[in-house]
Amino acid sequence: QAQAVILGIETSCDETAAALVARDASGNGKILSNVVRSQLDEHAAFGGVVPELAARAHVAFLDHIIEAACRQAGIGLAEVDAIAATAGPGLIGGVLVGLTTAKAIAAALGKPLIAVNHLEAHALTARLTDGVAFPYLMLLVSGGHSQFVLVRGVGDYARWGTTIDDALGEAFDKTAKLLSLGHPGGPALEAAASQGNPRRFRFPRPLLREERLDFSFSGLKTAVRLEAEGLAPLTDKDVADIAASFQATVAEIVAVRARQALERFARELPGHRPLLVVAGGVAANRTIGAGLQRIADETGAELVVPPPALCTDNGAMVAWAGAERLALGAADDLSFAARARWPLDDPDMRI
Ligand code: KG4
Ligand code: ZN
Repeated sequence: QAQAVILGIETSCDETAAALVARDASGNGKILSNVVRSQLDEHAAFGGVVPELAARAHVAFLDHIIEAACRQAGIGLAEVDAIAATAGPGLIGGVLVGLTTAKAIAAALGKPLIAVNHLEAHALTARLTDGVAFPYLMLLVSGGHSQFVLVRGVGDYARWGTTIDDALGEAFDKTAKLLSLGHPGGPALEAAASQGNPRRFRFPRPLLREERLDFSFSGLKTAVRLEAEGLAPLTDKDVADIAASFQATVAEIVAVRARQALERFARELPGHRPLLVVAGGVAANRTIGAGLQRIADETGAELVVPPPALCTDNGAMVAWAGAERLALGAADDLSFAARARWPLDDPDMRI
């Protein structure tokens, strides 16, 4: 197939996003535009994402965001070769808005629809930004997910581990809320932690003695809450020290798990240099990134972290996943239903 230009639409959480991405015949991608409108203001007063408000904001803004994406790329909708939209997993109201819009455009233009799994979009982003080749290991750490996934090919995934309770971004957000640092908590907590002493508190590291590649963050969250309640009222120094100690703890948990996952990769895929790709909003955290780089150096693995704007939710990753699927001949029926849950190793991901 020659060059294809794909429109990508992302509405599964609290960003309304659209992008145009081109993929050439040799598989190289180029972002022509990438427009993201975050709904932070809509949800700020509630300390978290309110699904109904999110869906309504997607309805209000998506058309403008798609228009802006076309304008910035200098490409009319009619010149697009296919329409890709996140079809799940995510907040179902928002997913419906994006997927239905994509179906309408596809039907009106007579162009193929690609129903994209949001997790696959995160998983394939490093092929757009860094041209990485299969197979590789992905660590997805976002507000909704914390998983190790073996990426064998487009549509071909094996989940090696997940969280048994909170996602890592969620743990950051809840801890930040507890410390009155605001929402979204990850960046605020990282900023506070930079002023603190990471060794003042020793928090538990659940599951860490076990070999399994799963995470658990809810016990840590409780420990942080008890510590904070014991010290109340908290001084700025207490807040910074708790934030720094929390961050150091999760960075260590992630690093230990990454080492185990890379060792498994080396065992099960001999002949391939272990490659770890980090995706999701938490990939922006510098302490976690430094821990992962140390593990990569120690195990002889390569570490790839796409730029933060492409690690957090965006339309370019959805367009790119759509382009990769289209290049393999995939397209979806206009009856494709939005899904609140959709694991990456679902058999219907296969092309
Ligand atoms: O991938 P993302 O934008 O949205 C989804 O959840 O899909 O990830 C957002 C999450 C939030 O929980 C946010 O607090 C966290 O990523 N995050 C961070 C940082 N930046 C964003 N967590 C820790 N450190 C950061 N610098
Ligand atoms: Zn995401």
